[in-house]
Amino acid sequence: MSLTVRDYDFANNLPPLAIHEDPTGQWSLGVAGTIWDSSYVLARYLEKSLAQQPITNQSNILELGAGLGIVGMSLARFLPSANIVLTDKSDRLKLLQHNVQSNNSTATVAGYDWETPTSALEEQNWDMILISDCIWEPSLHTILLQALHRVMKPTTVLLMAYEVRNEPVEEQFLDSLRHTYTLQYIPTEEMDEQFQSDDIRIIRAQAPVGISEVH
Ligand SMILES: C[S@@+](CC[C@H](N)C(=O)[O-])C[C@H]1O[C@@H](n2cnc3c(N)ncnc32)[C@H](O)[C@@H]1O
Repeated sequence: MSLTVRDYDFANNLPPLAIHEDPTGQWSLGVAGTIWDSSYVLARYLEKSLAQQPITNQSNILELGAGLGIVGMSLARFLPSANIVLTDKSDRLKLLQHNVQSNNSTATVAGYDWETPTSALEEQNWDMILISDCIWEPSLHTILLQALHRVMKPTTVLLMAYEVRNEPVEEQFLDSLRHTYTLQYIPTEEMDEQFQSDDIRIIRAQAPVGISEVH
């Protein structure tokens, strides 16, 4: 097993997460086998925003397309009693599961393909949905949107980081989200000073206030 290990360092003095990656593709995980830059930006943003605006340790938090797990596992360090579920396609969970175990994370792992409705996950009342670098492939936009409509509840907050690679296409995805949700770009001043980049954005989305049901 030719894995490499990269440390994810927190902004404060917590011990780092050791993230195993599969750069040579031997585990056949495709894009889920390596760490994508947006995940550092989102994880550090979450750390900074939690310090300023704590959220309850009882939260239900779902990560879609979690890859190797940096975002959800880093959040779990601050919210050890929260229900934080890291999901990806079922055939891509092996290394994610390995990372969760080797870091003694309190996050859990579950298979969730955006294409396949899964009532066990979709019926839960998620406080927050996390997504990092999952709109890189336009052919997946429709199924990701459909999955979001199934998991987002009236009070769920979506935080989605993405890298700008083809802005008109990414804007189309965001326009589709705007049909149902109110969107806000997180200002760079609110991101971690070290972990930000001109081409990485974070979107916050939520159903408009007063909407009791979102389909
Ligand atoms: C570019 S990677 C980003 C991984 C991780 N979030 C990060 O930022 O490092 C995209 C992720 O989306 C996942 N993905 C792609 N298609 C999916 C699908 N149909 N259902 C669930 N996850 C999917 C991939 O397996 C991969 O983990």
